[in-house]
Amino acid sequence: MSTMVEFRRVVNRLLGRKGASTVVAKTTESREKWASEAQEGEFLFHKNDTWRKTPDFMNQTDRLLRHFGFTPEQYAGKVVVDVGAGSMLRTKFFTGAHLVVVEPLADRFLAEIPACDLKDAAEVYSEPAEQLVEGLVGRCDLVISINVLDHCFDFPQIVDNIRQYLKPDGLAFLTFDMHDKADHMHPLSLTEKTCKPIFDQAKLRIEKVTTGVGDALGGSQTYGHGPFTLNYWLRRADV
Ligand SMILES: C[S@@+](CC[C@H](N)C(=O)[O-])C[C@H]1O[C@@H](n2cnc3c(N)ncnc32)[C@H](O)[C@@H]1O
Repeated sequence: MSTMVEFRRVVNRLLGRKGASTVVAKTTESREKWASEAQEGEFLFHKNDTWRKTPDFMNQTDRLLRHFGFTPEQYAGKVVVDVGAGSMLRTKFFTGAHLVVVEPLADRFLAEIPACDLKDAAEVYSEPAEQLVEGLVGRCDLVISINVLDHCFDFPQIVDNIRQYLKPDGLAFLTFDMHDKADHMHPLSLTEKTCKPIFDQAKLRIEKVTTGVGDALGGSQTYGHGPFTLNYWLRRADV
């Protein structure tokens, strides 16, 4: 455990607070804790989820991505990276795109969930997004991540990797739940205040930021955690 995590624990204990849920705006967590707690829970969730196998999953995906201004044909022939794709590929929305998956549970999903369609991607990397995939550097037109980044363990490292993947005119679109408290399934708590300096440091320029998802999720403004989603359109600031 890092000294900082232990320090926060001691402070929380002295203040009479309980566990990780009281840690405010946390952008890193230990990889071990992420793997043993969050990712084990995540795997079981996907294995037992029946909804993703119904047509409603892609219907919802269609509403969501159109809400964010995407159209199915706009990345035809282009490279789209789905960071934290889950067990079913929302990015199949992009017809004719060269789809790349970076998903740490990909091998397990493919081995243990018969309906898992990650095999339909052109390239699958069963790695956490914190791990740089050298072969993707400078190749990508769109890096997209939906409801993932608060589930990870090192947000600054991921953001830096994403900037490296982008072509000079590429777009990163990151949408995740905003919450200022972490828990065992959501090790990171990301807010506008904590994200901005991390994007600056990684040389990513915020082209646009919005909150919520309109009517795409039937009225809810979150993927399940916190009051609303944060949605970022980012461009390379180093070109
Ligand atoms: C709530 S699911 C969302 C899946 C998919 N994007 C969707 O919208 O259906 C979160 C996903 O993030 C993945 N994830 C967790 N930590 C990650 C990390 N460090 N790097 C990349 N993906 C991660 C999990 O394995 C899981 O598949």
